Amino acid sequence: MTLEIVVGTQWGDEGKGRIVDLLAAQADVVARYNGGDNAGHTVTVGSQTFKLHLLPSGLIHPHALGLLGNGMVINPASLIQEMEMLRAAGIQVDPRRLVISYAAHLITPGHKALDRALESARGAGLIGTTGRGIGPAYTDKAARRGLRVLDMLDPAEFRRKMRRHIHDVNQQLQGLYAAEPLEVEAIAAEFEGYAVQLKPYIGDAGARAADALAAGKRVLGEGAQGTLLDLDQGTYPFVTSSTPTAPGVLTGLGLGIPHGPVRVIGVTKSFQTRVGAGPFPTEVQGAAAERLRGTGANPWDEYGTTTGRPRRVGWLDGVLLRYAVRVNGLTELMVTKLDVLSGLPAIPICTAYRYQGRQIEDLPLGPSDLSPFEPVCQELPGWQENLGPVRAWGELPTAARAYLDKIAEISGVPVSLVSVGPERDQVVLKEKDRD
Ligand code: GDP
Ligand code: IMO
Ligand code: MG
Repeated sequence: MTLEIVVGTQWGDEGKGRIVDLLAAQADVVARYNGGDNAGHTVTVGSQTFKLHLLPSGLIHPHALGLLGNGMVINPASLIQEMEMLRAAGIQVDPRRLVISYAAHLITPGHKALDRALESARGAGLIGTTGRGIGPAYTDKAARRGLRVLDMLDPAEFRRKMRRHIHDVNQQLQGLYAAEPLEVEAIAAEFEGYAVQLKPYIGDAGARAADALAAGKRVLGEGAQGTLLDLDQGTYPFVTSSTPTAPGVLTGLGLGIPHGPVRVIGVTKSFQTRVGAGPFPTEVQGAAAERLRGTGANPWDEYGTTTGRPRRVGWLDGVLLRYAVRVNGLTELMVTKLDVLSGLPAIPICTAYRYQGRQIEDLPLGPSDLSPFEPVCQELPGWQENLGPVRAWGELPTAARAYLDKIAEISGVPVSLVSVGPERDQVVLKEKDRD
């Protein structure tokens, strides 16, 4: 029995998809536990590149059972489209290998319309959401008026609930935001169709995960988003509306406190990025930003997987990384995109903040408002070598190893793996040939 959890330590897009792909080769069950199709997880296998938004990335491995946990908000239209996309790529997706929790919530066109209306109403203070209806869907969940996957099993009742939901949304759209109302009957009919298609997949995802653990199997929890986007632990209010941090795997899958081994893997980009608004102490602009972001010429350049927006970029923030270690209970780090740093003469890394004239290494009141903090950076020597072909720790340039050692030192947890390109095999394990 092993529970493995993959979480992003930053603001999302750390490369979780490719790390999950690696770990899923040994997992029996792969499960998403939070968020919805705001996520965009890239997995590259040879000439095929998969961009997954709702389905677990581990599903690409034919042996794994995929679960969509109760902590998720699911847009059935996106889900059906993604299932078809995988099938077209030759991956089997059927009820024997995919279970959708009856208790997950549904995202409707009403939630998407409200997401857009709320963002326009925020004006300059906008969050920069993905526009996928995430916040409004979780709002309905918390207000105890949401539509759940289970509701799809009773067509007459589902139609009634859907009509009432769209009617409520229309009242808000017209009354509060002067926006166009939605077509109640068209949406109700559309969702009846989705209910028919998804019915065979509805089940008790939590029980399947618990049974697998009890049978001594490996369950891999795939976090979406990242620690600093967590509703409670992140840079509130510039966060998402779910719990991406590792404890979210328990509530989001319906698991109790585990009594067996737990491995909590924090995925850390070797620098730092953010899409959307909110604080970012180590952010850089101008030529340095262009260098880190890329021009869009490479598929891995820093443009959003889900929205195509250019990502804000900056240097690795050790203060926030230490915070991520604490709130997730990380047992190890996997560092991605180290190849991108090749060629830089020096690499700054933030080790502390300057605050009210003194240097601090931990945040006094968490990461809500980071504007009073000025990053204190140390410059580490860069390296010139192309890391793409490196497969052994000992083959990494000395300066690259020193940078990884610094990350381990600042965070207080070991770096167990580094990736040097987006391809499945472009990884270097520390265990392999520890020097
Ligand atoms: P996720 O949301 O955490 O799964 O990350 P995304 O898929 O949104 O963004 C990560 C991007 O970086 C994708 O385009 C990946 O193909 C790419 N990527 C992942 N690891 C590496 C790496 O080691 N090197 C390079 N160059 N690209 C990588
Ligand atoms: P993955 O899983 C990066 C960001 C949005 C916005 C904020 C709130 O690919 O790492 P939302 O639509 O969730 O209400 O938007 O959260 N955001 C992400 N940023 N990667 C993601 O997912 C994200 N999911 C949401 O840009 O700032
Ligand atoms: Mg992403």
